[in-house]
Amino acid sequence: MAEFDLGASFIPALHKPSALLPIAKHRDSLLYLIETNPVTIVVGQTGSGKTTQIPQFLEQAGWCEDGKVLAITQPRRVAATTVAIRVAQEYGCEPGKEVGYSIRFEDVSSATTRIRFLTDGLLIREALVDPLLSRYSVIMVDEAHERSISTDILLGLLKKIMKRRPELRIVISSATLQAEEFLRFFDSHDAEGASSVEKEAKPAGAIISLEGRTYPIDVLYLDSPAEDYVEKAVETVFNIHTDEAEGDILVFLTGREEIDTAVRMISERAADLRPGGQSILALPLYAGLSTEQQMYVFEEAPENTRKIIVSTNIAEASVTIDGIVYVIDAGFVKLKAFDPTTGIESLTATPVSKAAASQRAGRAGRTKPGKCFRLYTEDDYRALPDMNVPEIQRTNLAPFILQLKALGIDNVVRFNYLTPPPAELLSKATELLFSLGALDEYAKLTKPLGMRMAELAVEPMMAKTLLTASSFGCLSEILTIAAMTSLGGSVWVQRDGEKKQLEATRRKFAAEEGDHLTLLNAYHTFVGKGKKESRFCHDNSLDFKAMTRAVSIRAQLKRYLERFGIQVDESLKLSSPATSDQIRKCLTTGYFAHAARMQPDGSFQNVAGGTTLYAHPSSLMFNRKADWVIFHEVMETGNKTYIRDITKIEKGWLLEYSAGFYHLRQ
Ligand code: CDP
Ligand code: MG
Repeated sequence: MAEFDLGASFIPALHKPSALLPIAKHRDSLLYLIETNPVTIVVGQTGSGKTTQIPQFLEQAGWCEDGKVLAITQPRRVAATTVAIRVAQEYGCEPGKEVGYSIRFEDVSSATTRIRFLTDGLLIREALVDPLLSRYSVIMVDEAHERSISTDILLGLLKKIMKRRPELRIVISSATLQAEEFLRFFDSHDAEGASSVEKEAKPAGAIISLEGRTYPIDVLYLDSPAEDYVEKAVETVFNIHTDEAEGDILVFLTGREEIDTAVRMISERAADLRPGGQSILALPLYAGLSTEQQMYVFEEAPENTRKIIVSTNIAEASVTIDGIVYVIDAGFVKLKAFDPTTGIESLTATPVSKAAASQRAGRAGRTKPGKCFRLYTEDDYRALPDMNVPEIQRTNLAPFILQLKALGIDNVVRFNYLTPPPAELLSKATELLFSLGALDEYAKLTKPLGMRMAELAVEPMMAKTLLTASSFGCLSEILTIAAMTSLGGSVWVQRDGEKKQLEATRRKFAAEEGDHLTLLNAYHTFVGKGKKESRFCHDNSLDFKAMTRAVSIRAQLKRYLERFGIQVDESLKLSSPATSDQIRKCLTTGYFAHAARMQPDGSFQNVAGGTTLYAHPSSLMFNRKADWVIFHEVMETGNKTYIRDITKIEKGWLLEYSAGFYHLRQ
């Protein structure tokens, strides 16, 4: 296997001078283009240095003088944090000083911050207070090829802002060749009318391509489809480990559950490896991990150890891990899908696009020739779509319509969309916002309710719940529930082989009425006297980090409310049946669209569309009796649609608090 000779020494990323990155030799032309064009589109392979280097080039070239800031947006929170930490390291400062990041509920930036990484969603939110985003001299929209809905909306806003701020510079970076489409978008006339003659003469932007060096990659397919791709992925890891030369392995699966299973299976089987040989270290990478856990994957493996990273599509383009020689691609990705008839949004494992498959394979050839093992047949590959449908065409638009309205864009149909959303999704979102009281019958934002809902950093259904809570006398409790359900993961930890313990401890907090009140009980106990500590969490199967985050999120939400002049009465009423009723009624005012009724077989039927739903095994309502319920969210695993965070309600409340939502349908 001469081609895998590791004789040529491999330089660890942290010490690799940035002058060696493909982007280095384009520095001057890049800066010139940005200087002379309102929009610059940078196309370059993952790992060429776009995210980490461009902001530093700009800063050195003086784009941060006069207190101006550079914004670099990311579709994913994980990417915003890991990349900011990396750039801070290269820059030589603590994260939060000159280089910082801001993601929802976590702001690691300060008045000294000049290079600020943030999610594109957060930048849209910033436009509510600063409509021209005037503190930024350059806004770099990174990973634009992913076409997340926030990216699309942000590009639409920037196109508007650009006209009012000719000095603003926009950099769009993409890992794939969609550059022309972005440029056409900025060059085209507005749907809203005004276009200048001058613009026709001079294009708004330029495209620069950073050709990067890659090594050849052998792509291998399966003869016949795999029955269970997680199992097959694990098997392939061990085949590579025994048959192939040195080099780390990157495995693409779809989500946390699969990844945790695979990591566990790999670690178990690794124990049986022949002693004395190279050992194996399997690490997970997905959005729900703490920043610290994410960092492990970037560290070099200990000597004589092969590192196996099992990741979601985060590792496809957003973050770069060095030393990968083998890629195993299961061929699926979790994508949001919104069903306008049922009003249910779920994350569903979907076949990847050809573009994504080639991105994934590309991860193997960064430091030397590599191999990509696709866990599907070549025929399956040929049947894949070239690109995935942009998120804006398959997601619940309610949060975005609310934002646009709050930004003064009333005619959301004629907004500058890169790709317009289907009319059905637009009307569905408008209907929901109307029933929530955010829009009036002329589809205008209501004041103060609609405006405040847009400002609160939680999705519209929770925002409505929070803003109604004082009238039900349960604001303190709803604040806690909002924080506990905004964590993006579970607060319960099930340690290996301790399923029983989890059940037993959870029973201590369990509320007959369902998950929301159970979460409330857990939080109350956690913040109770002398209990705010990891020991308590460990003994009660709670995730200490998640609980600590809940405390911080709660405080932030409380500050929002106080800014609106809403006072929070924190005198702890021990939840009486009366408060429990108020809390459940209040939840119904926000979550009526997520209502379901239990069927004789124990499954649920969604009220709005008649879909069959199942209580997630992590819910208290799993295997319990109920009649009418509301739920926080839907998650799809395999071929069943699961609902999570479920609370019993009464049918009468649904009619009372849903402002005609269910009548509209008759
Ligand atoms: O954005 P793009 O994919 O073009 O590249 P980048 O993220 O700027 O990465 C440039 C280099 O920095 C690569 O060699 C990465 O491996 C390295 N890097 C790293 O080692 N650790 C990070 N957290 C981010 C980047
Ligand atoms: Mg990047």
